Amino acid sequence: MLSFCPATSDDLADIVKLERYLFAPEIAFGHARWRELLRAGRCETWLLRDREGALMAYLSVLPHRGWRRLVVQTLAVHWKVRRQGWARWLLGEVIRRSHAEGWRGVRLEVSERNEEGLALYDALGFRIMTHLPDYYGPGHHGQRRVLAP
Ligand SMILES: CC(C)(COP(=O)(O)OP(=O)(O)OC[C@H]1O[C@@H](n2cnc3c(N)ncnc32)[C@H](O)[C@@H]1OP(=O)(O)O)[C@@H](O)C(=O)NCCC(=O)NCCS
Repeated sequence: MLSFCPATSDDLADIVKLERYLFAPEIAFGHARWRELLRAGRCETWLLRDREGALMAYLSVLPHRGWRRLVVQTLAVHWKVRRQGWARWLLGEVIRRSHAEGWRGVRLEVSERNEEGLALYDALGFRIMTHLPDYYGPGHHGQRRVLAP
């Protein structure tokens, strides 16, 4: 079982360490951006830790008032606990919040090379809103996806 808690600046090192293993450098936020995200307060980051306190997953969500959507900035699950439903659970929390607070759905971007991410978002019903050519660098395309309320 994993425990859920909101991230603070004290979690910066753990998040950046896990991110380095899970994302290519052109996609990873890196230390400086994470420090800003955790400090700024506009974006919320949620963590899942195991019994020993090791970081097993994180998700960041930004309420975007212009689009009136919740924007998932990033999501990752440690390989030790994959395919156990944790990403589905974290996204479910975002979707529940979107309904409860009356947002116009949930938005995110994903690399077209990310087979597991694409499978996850397909499974949850996220639809392609826009193709994003070269979004992650030359020849590395992305997709903007939305789950409508
Ligand atoms: C993508 C990722 C977050 C999925 O996390 P997870 O906790 O393993 O996903 P879940 O167990 O909640 O999977 C939910 C559903 O998504 C789909 N799915 C998830 N991973 C999949 C995979 N590797 N292959 C096929 N389908 C997959 C399945 O439909 C799955 O349901 P099922 O297990 O009942 O078949 C995880 O693989 C990861 O962190 N990858 C690296 C970082 C990343 O790509 N993040 C997303 C970037 S936008």
